[in-house]
Amino acid sequence: MADVPAVELTGIVKRFPGVVANRDVDLAVAPGTIHALVGENGAGKSTLMNILYGMQRPDGGEIRVDGEVVSFRNPTDAIRAGIGMVHQHFMLAANLTVAENVILGAEPSRWGRIDFGAARARIAELGRRYGLVVDPDALVEQLGVGERQRVEILKVLYRGARTLILDEPTAVLVPQEVEDLFRNLGELRAEGITILFISHKLDEVLSVADTITVIRAGTTVATVAPADVTAGQLAELMVGSELPTPETREPTVTDDVALALEGVTMCAPGGRPELDDITLSVRRGEIVGIAGVEGNGQAELIDAVMGLRPVDGGRISLGDEDATGWSTRRRREAGLGYVPEDRHRHGLLLDAPSGRTRCSATRPLLPTPRAPGSTGPAPAASAARWWRSSTCARPRSTWPPTPSRAATSRS
Ligand SMILES: Nc1ncnc2c1ncn2[C@@H]1O[C@H](COP(=O)(O)OP(=O)(O)OP(=O)(O)O)[C@@H](O)[C@H]1O
Ligand SMILES: [Mg+2]
Repeated sequence: MADVPAVELTGIVKRFPGVVANRDVDLAVAPGTIHALVGENGAGKSTLMNILYGMQRPDGGEIRVDGEVVSFRNPTDAIRAGIGMVHQHFMLAANLTVAENVILGAEPSRWGRIDFGAARARIAELGRRYGLVVDPDALVEQLGVGERQRVEILKVLYRGARTLILDEPTAVLVPQEVEDLFRNLGELRAEGITILFISHKLDEVLSVADTITVIRAGTTVATVAPADVTAGQLAELMVGSELPTPETREPTVTDDVALALEGVTMCAPGGRPELDDITLSVRRGEIVGIAGVEGNGQAELIDAVMGLRPVDGGRISLGDEDATGWSTRRRREAGLGYVPEDRHRHGLLLDAPSGRTRCSATRPLLPTPRAPGSTGPAPAASAARWWRSSTCARPRSTWPPTPSRAATSRS
């Protein structure tokens, strides 16, 4: 019965207030293949996968798994049917070990206690079988992004998934990690696992997928084989029209230097230089790209430019002024902005009302919450006073934050 799809979605409809996220979606995924789902931001890819994973109920349509009609009330039902999902944003507990994360909610027990020995053995066995190498005793907070992703995949396989949904798995990875992931996906496919892979990086999709389905404005518009399309044709299917050709306009670069680094050096606690004599300048109207393999100083360069860590040598100028000793607040007030790589960990205060994130990006920074046991004025109270005097939108229920809440959202 090789013709029966591992997963088949027919006529799926999902409405949210004011938005039809999915309409008449048809998708058939052959077993043991890598099937990519591509589409623009907001096209409805995640919604469709959330429906397949039982996180959202469709308003219409039918789901079949191995030919049988199913109706999932929640992810537990989906997992029972052999469907697992790795979300766009990882959902691991950073303060637990790899093994604890993998078994969380599905702990093997022996005489009423968690059988960590059995868990470790099974994780090692899955790791060997699918080439997903990761130390079961490592703390997740100490792992890099690629390793965290492997833990997420292991977690899903541990629960017996035969169909794996990966939502934008490469968005957070550097090229080397993308290669590792694709090798892992190849090994999973060789073992008969079916993979649904969401992406909008077309070259990646063309290199890794067996079949590609394009979603546009909530509906499936084409299903193609990678050999039959080019990246340009896929992009046109995604946007529904011919792509505009870039305009050649007058250059915007001026001679005014807006930001300059001269001989900037920053050392790790042991004295090892993390930034060694960095000199560069950015002129008004100019876009400067910084290329390099992760771990070679990019994060430290941001810390230095934003004043998140003091430099050990050199000079940073904003316009004509020497900003080397300035606080982050002063640099931001002088017009320097920063959009971080990881929005969830460094860009947003997820537990706070949206107004506070907006204000913290545009207004002077709030006092840092006091660590438990330390002395000094109560920061939450002064923060609340600042808030009352600010012109930003007033938050609702969760303000002022308790120190632990604020500390979590800054971590
Ligand atoms: N829980 C929700 N409530 C209301 N609207 C939603 C909800 N989830 C998604 N939407 C809307 O449904 C549409 C499809 O969103 P979805 O997240 O599925 O898109 P996507 O293709 O995954 O986009 P991206 O590439 O940005 O991840 C969007 O207009 C989005 O704003
Ligand atoms: Mg999405």
